[in-house]
Amino acid sequence: MSISIRGAAQLLRPPQDGLRYLRHDRAGELALEPGDVLLDGGRIAGFEAAAADVVVDASGCAVLPGFVDCHTHLPFAGWRAEEYERKVTGVPYEEIARAGGGIASSARALASASDEEVLGQAQALASELLRHGTTAFEGKTGYGLSREGEARAARLGRELGRRVVQPMRLTGLFAHAIPPGFSADAWMDEAEGLARECDVDALDIFVESVAFGNEHLARMGAIARATGRPLRAHAEQLSTLRSVPVALEWGARSVDHLSLVHPDDVAPLAASECAAVLLPGAELMNAEHTAPARALADAGAIAVLATDFNPGTSPIASLPLIIGLAVRRYGWSVREALLAATLNAAWVLGWSGELGSLEPGKRADVLLLDGPAEHVPYRFGHNPVAAVLVAGELVWVRPDQAWRVARS
Ligand code: NIG
Ligand code: FE
Repeated sequence: MSISIRGAAQLLRPPQDGLRYLRHDRAGELALEPGDVLLDGGRIAGFEAAAADVVVDASGCAVLPGFVDCHTHLPFAGWRAEEYERKVTGVPYEEIARAGGGIASSARALASASDEEVLGQAQALASELLRHGTTAFEGKTGYGLSREGEARAARLGRELGRRVVQPMRLTGLFAHAIPPGFSADAWMDEAEGLARECDVDALDIFVESVAFGNEHLARMGAIARATGRPLRAHAEQLSTLRSVPVALEWGARSVDHLSLVHPDDVAPLAASECAAVLLPGAELMNAEHTAPARALADAGAIAVLATDFNPGTSPIASLPLIIGLAVRRYGWSVREALLAATLNAAWVLGWSGELGSLEPGKRADVLLLDGPAEHVPYRFGHNPVAAVLVAGELVWVRPDQAWRVARS
């Protein structure tokens, strides 16, 4: 099946083909020029207006690669709206966590939900991601909080990946909170067992005053190396623990959050191939500090944006909203924000050779927006996604945009 997308006002294209990532000091080199795209057999075939089975009128539209959400906590069970209300009225996250709320409360919800209930909620949320332009995403374990619970979370995560339209990576966040009855050290033995037994694509750890320390991050680095998985870390979210040098020493693929990253760690991070994954949704909803995103971008980091979609700190599914937050709060250009939600996010998931940019031969994961790219952050809260293609199939067309599609 072939699809011809014709007459786009803007096509987002990298400065050259074959880049695995683009450092943020080069984001200005991304092109947003008028053009056409031809998709064939699930791949991007070229940039000409050719005869095709389906013709899409892209006049007035920006055409982008699908968004890649490289940091979510799907699948999770239930929500925590009452906790959010407590939080906004003044109770700090650490206190909610210590009182059995936070991660522990989502762990109870997961334990008491059936497999089908968990998967049903997560599948519905994956289609919400899709309608907001997310054509590939990552999910994590982390709400199991016991050896059996985490093994189940990994199994459910994989099952979710089989059920959704988007390709999905699964990360084992086996060291998320310290389960009752364990010390952090003792739980790391269990986390190591889980990492060896479970079918996951990457390993992650929450390094924080209320969770695990840098010595545990180093241990997770060793486990990741021994089991051949990329290391990721929730780092410097609520306090400054100087976890970034440890993560770099262990060759981490990404460090995520960074709201309170130490100023001395910005340059080494920016010089490395470890991505700086910024989560402005969590910064807003959890009243966190703002990551030094402008400095990271100027220093040439591989900067990335993600939703951190989870029931506690960031119940936000929309990458367009995250892009809007990043542009406003980080002082980023539109190109910087789009790069962070596409090619560089694909790099975090090890998929940047396959997707994340509009290049001949890549998977045809393509978005049609209902206006120019500059409107994504500007019309904050508006969902600009008019149509979504995954592997060359039109998987979502917004009803008011159906007139654009002609099938022969
Ligand atoms: O990425 N920081 C740790 N983990 C999540 C929050 C998890 C939760 O509160 O449920 C995060 O913000
Ligand atoms: Fe997270």
